[in-house]
Amino acid sequence: MSDWIPIADVSECPPGASIERLAGGRMVAIANVDGIFHAIDGLCPHQGGPLGTGALCGVVLTCPWHGWQFDVTTGRHRLSATMRQTVHEIRVENGRLFVRLAGDGPAAESPA
Ligand code: FES
Repeated sequence: MSDWIPIADVSECPPGASIERLAGGRMVAIANVDGIFHAIDGLCPHQGGPLGTGALCGVVLTCPWHGWQFDVTTGRHRLSATMRQTVHEIRVENGRLFVRLAGDGPAAESPA
């Protein structure tokens, strides 16, 4: 259980929305697709844009900086079969979201 990190309240991410949060030194994009939560690495591999602040349409999250798109259920880039964001486990407990970070993503710099 200790590797599950509390990351947000469920109420912060209603259906059809995405948010970004820092967990374990990594930026995580959380998306709510029809009540099912998904979590992927939140730094866009293009130029480090904040994926979690992008627009969510269905399962597709669009980076707000230049429009790269990712499937939040798989982490896959919509146009590149080889580009993939790390997918993290996410669960709900007592109105809170918890993530268990996968091991192969980049670390985010701490805010100054
Ligand atoms: S930084 Fe995300 S598309 Fe450019």
